Amino acid sequence: TTQIGVTPPPLGWASWNTFASSIDFNVIKQQADALVSSGMAAAGYDHINLDDGWWQGARDANGNIAVNESLWPGGMKAVADYLHGRGLKAGIYTDAGKQGCGFYYPTTRPATPNSGMEGHYQQDLESFQRWGFDYVKIDFCGGREEKLNQEATYKAIAAAHEAASAVTGRRLVLSVCEWGTGLTWNWAPGTGDLWRTSNDIIFYGQTADTTKMLTNFDQGIHPAAQHTGYTNDLDMLMVGMNGLNAAQNRLHMSLWAISGAPLLAGNNLATMSSTTRDILTQPEVLAIDQDRRGLQGVKVAEDTRNLQVYSKVLAGTGKRAVLLLNRTGSAAQMTVRWADLGLTTASASVRNVWSRADVGSSGTGYTTSVPANDAVLLTVSGTEAAGDTYEDTTAAAT
Ligand code: DGJ
Repeated sequence: TTQIGVTPPPLGWASWNTFASSIDFNVIKQQADALVSSGMAAAGYDHINLDDGWWQGARDANGNIAVNESLWPGGMKAVADYLHGRGLKAGIYTDAGKQGCGFYYPTTRPATPNSGMEGHYQQDLESFQRWGFDYVKIDFCGGREEKLNQEATYKAIAAAHEAASAVTGRRLVLSVCEWGTGLTWNWAPGTGDLWRTSNDIIFYGQTADTTKMLTNFDQGIHPAAQHTGYTNDLDMLMVGMNGLNAAQNRLHMSLWAISGAPLLAGNNLATMSSTTRDILTQPEVLAIDQDRRGLQGVKVAEDTRNLQVYSKVLAGTGKRAVLLLNRTGSAAQMTVRWADLGLTTASASVRNVWSRADVGSSGTGYTTSVPANDAVLLTVSGTEAAGDTYEDTTAAAT
């Protein structure tokens, strides 16, 4: 069977950036409760994804993954049940090889780690499905250590997922966590629903900054792969984490939204400020990210080095999201030209997305000042230039 792509890209929270391997049922409950009480769930963030650390590197006599009941009372099914009870979806984590990123084991790394899926692909995927999980992230640390071929390995996992689904009647969203070394964008669409395109945006204990944010954004631009309704995964968000101010948090959201990337918050939701919450839930930014056409933004102009204009074709006719990205250390006047968006000059209208203000239109483009190392996110509505075929044939999401 052919997998149905995830359209729009997943929204939610994932445990890794803040908690690393120190997760248990209490942490997950606390974050799920905060996702709901903060209003993030109402804004569309519906996944709570467990990352590395839920396992302990052991299997029972039947080869099933052993679960530490003191950390996870009632086992992993209780976790999925809890999340579903809060109206959320449940994500879990594994590795394509025999182990995850072993140096992150909460205690000592087992002598013969075997929590990873290798040798147990169908068995583990059936377990995740039976426990009630909706989403699985499949890391590649064990796979890398064993020098597994990325494409063949993930294709075998996808086939095992089909076999598991035939038994349980459930499907998982498959998140491919090979970091682009294996050119994921060439084969992962349809093997998985989303796939990483770069290394980790932050390592545990580091202070967040915009450097890796921009690197991951650049490395994630593979628009041909995203035409199918599948999603390039630029990695989890650092919004609200130490080191980023409000402007940098908005820049982060703008980059991920123009790319149409998964938005998996990585901050501590139980302690976030209302400013962070408002940035994560800004509805017009989320609408750009979640646009049902599911395309990725691409660079359409760079007249002066590091003054870049990105455009994402949105559902509808003549609609674009536009990012004016100033990667220089000084404020700059930047212009988006209708012609670079494939629009005719006559009737474009422009809206500043973060300030939620219509800013008018005139002439052949729109010019505004963009602060140093920052961006301005716009939507532009106009008339498709002759010869363009962007009329909306996309079926509405059901
Ligand atoms: C590497 C992945 O890229 C990260 O997102 C995270 O899942 C860690 N492994 C966990 O060990």
